[in-house]
Amino acid sequence: MTKKRILSGMRPTGKLHIGHLVGALDNWIKLQDDYESYHLIADYHVLTTRLETKNIYNDSIEMLIDWLACGLDPIKSPMFRQSQIKEHTELHLIFSMLITVNRLERNPTVKDQIRDLHIEHVIYGHLGYPVLQAADILLYKGGAVPVGEDQVPHVEISREIARKFNNQYGVVFPEPEPLLTKFARLQGLDGNAKMSKSLNNTILLSDEPAIIKAKIKKAVTDPNKIRKGDPGDPDICLIFSYHKKFISAEVLEINAACRSGALGCVDCKMKCASKISELLNPIIEKRHYYEQKLNEVTDILLDGEKRARNTAQVTMNEVREKMKLG
Ligand code: TRP
Repeated sequence: MTKKRILSGMRPTGKLHIGHLVGALDNWIKLQDDYESYHLIADYHVLTTRLETKNIYNDSIEMLIDWLACGLDPIKSPMFRQSQIKEHTELHLIFSMLITVNRLERNPTVKDQIRDLHIEHVIYGHLGYPVLQAADILLYKGGAVPVGEDQVPHVEISREIARKFNNQYGVVFPEPEPLLTKFARLQGLDGNAKMSKSLNNTILLSDEPAIIKAKIKKAVTDPNKIRKGDPGDPDICLIFSYHKKFISAEVLEINAACRSGALGCVDCKMKCASKISELLNPIIEKRHYYEQKLNEVTDILLDGEKRARNTAQVTMNEVREKMKLG
């Protein structure tokens, strides 16, 4: 039986953080056995909010190393840069004829981005990036797309475009379903609802134990718990939210000891830091391996790109044939 295909992607922002692990990668790793997975490095998507490209290759390689270090298997799943498969731009152009400007302007995720980044003049490619994303997904006939909540509107646009194409020219594409990553976002070290590189509030997957300790030491906790002995409220504590995520075995005790005052914030933070380091240890070891073997990393990328290109070309041939553009 052939496995259902999934397409997942991330913008290359350089080294990844623990929010990426719990929010996406853990899920991708689980899915790679049951599905035929394609893992896309969305380097063109970076241009929608940043024209500067001098670090784009390095950022892509750093991200790829993190993917590999976390356990994505390059034999099972091709990993590739969007910019190296020309079919993405070709299909994007065709898809851009199948959707209205009005529809794109209603996309809540794009609207939020424009608001949060204070973008006054929206470029054409920014408004249209969900159309490029539809091409990313449908070139590989992705039937499912593992994403967080914010990407669901984009997958919906992919479905609409697939339907429109199939009705107009004949059936080529599946209508992809989002595979929701259930996990709510990991808070940033500053208490912000989102851990994000641009907010500078992250723990990187590549952070060594001493760095993790130092970062966690500075993190905010319950402001009413000033010294050990004061009762704290774990429900409003950032560190407790990490405990819940990373050390399920002891959370009940930590909860009780914080409330009673028996556990002070410093001890609690050190417990949290060592748990996270312990978890990242195998990832860091694998990262060191790949850092020493950059040739192996580029070979993995080139092989992924070859395999992705083959699949993409098969789809594009079908598209051209259906459209009488052959
Ligand atoms: N838009 C996604 C993001 O900003 C990245 C992305 C590009 C993507 N193409 C994709 C995600 C295809 C899933 C499928 O994070």
